[in-house]
Amino acid sequence: MDKARIHLIAAARPNFMKVAPLYHALKADSDVFEVFLVHTGQHYDANMSDSFFADLGMGQPDFHLEVGSGTHAEQTGRTMIEYEQVCMREQPDRVVVVGDVNATAAVAIVCTKLHVPVIHLEAGLRSRDRSMPEEINRLVTDAVADLLWTPSPDGDANLLAEGVPAERIERVGNIMIDSFEMMRDRIEAAGTRGRFKLDGKRYGMVTLHRPANVDNPATLAVLVDQLCAVAESIELVFPVHPRTRQRLDAAGLTERLAASPRIRLTEPMGYIEFMNLVTGAVVAITDSGGVQEETTYLDIPCITLRPNTERPITITEGSNRLAEPEELLREVEKVLAGEWPSGRKPDLWDGRTAQRCVASLKRHLGRG
Ligand code: UD1
Ligand code: UDP
Repeated sequence: MDKARIHLIAAARPNFMKVAPLYHALKADSDVFEVFLVHTGQHYDANMSDSFFADLGMGQPDFHLEVGSGTHAEQTGRTMIEYEQVCMREQPDRVVVVGDVNATAAVAIVCTKLHVPVIHLEAGLRSRDRSMPEEINRLVTDAVADLLWTPSPDGDANLLAEGVPAERIERVGNIMIDSFEMMRDRIEAAGTRGRFKLDGKRYGMVTLHRPANVDNPATLAVLVDQLCAVAESIELVFPVHPRTRQRLDAAGLTERLAASPRIRLTEPMGYIEFMNLVTGAVVAITDSGGVQEETTYLDIPCITLRPNTERPITITEGSNRLAEPEELLREVEKVLAGEWPSGRKPDLWDGRTAQRCVASLKRHLGRG
């Protein structure tokens, strides 16, 4: 029997740790699968892209679409035009899209119209906030995907409520946790804390990149003031996303942050060094989807600077809480006073999601 040709689509930083465990699991089953990595090129700086391929043990992408930056329509449109060519030529048997970036929806639409079955990994998450581009990407992708792999029961419930037939939904768990477990030994051995002279110290990790937080100079100024106030109590490590770097510079706020001796501004970090710092942090201050999940898994207090989250299980079961920008200092004080609830690991966040995806894929292909 011919091998099943599987395309894994990755576009931006959070996608690389979602495709990596599946890439390795499919490679290990090489009698059944031939796996191809497609990089759309949405993120292209070495520290937003190549470093993740290196850290996560993936080779060069088999296809690189070089879509780059642009408006939503430019990015989505270019991805559709470029991937349609690849898809028509290569005729994959199944295409896996992950997460909620522009490429997720773009590739899902292309595949559906070419009658190539498309699978969404991390399906069913909903913030119900349509002002976020990611929510539109999630809705569009889940409306057309043939198979929906969900990370948590809320995902199944959302899809069923939207009329997705139950037989298309399979709960596989959280693939981000597979990446962490796959790299755990190297993360623990990384020594990043030592290099930052943070061993034995209480410190917090900061990541911010959502347009709602960083694209509005007034909101960004509030966040900068709050971070400076927090830094009176604990050191903060803040790897700055390129969008945020641009917005801080444009608003003249970089100097204000840099003037605080207890805020370490750095370039975006590789996965292993970043996670080494997260595992030792007393608090994460973030608007990242992935960081909400990683801190829930590690039971580290997480303050999410958003009015909502598409990952409610990180609140109902995990250590995540939402906050307004103005509330940040007050929330950090609660953490430092030990007034933060402990969480537990959600079901199927166990490092074996890629295995369940492979088993599901075999059933879907009739090779189970
Ligand atoms: C994108 C995703 C978001 C995800 C985030 C993860 C969408 C709609 N947004 O947001 O869901 O949470 O990635 O980090 O898909 N830039 C660089 N170098 C790069 C990449 C980007 O300098 O390698 C700069 C460019 O000026 C670009 C800006 O960052 O215009 C924003 O990048 P973009 O990919 O459009 O959106 P993100 O904010 O990164
Ligand atoms: N991350 C990293 N280095 C950094 C910041 C983040 O390796 O400097 C990793 C981390 O594992 C996080 C993931 O990137 O979970 C998600 O990235 P991001 O916050 O950009 O995207 P989101 O999850 O919000 O879509």
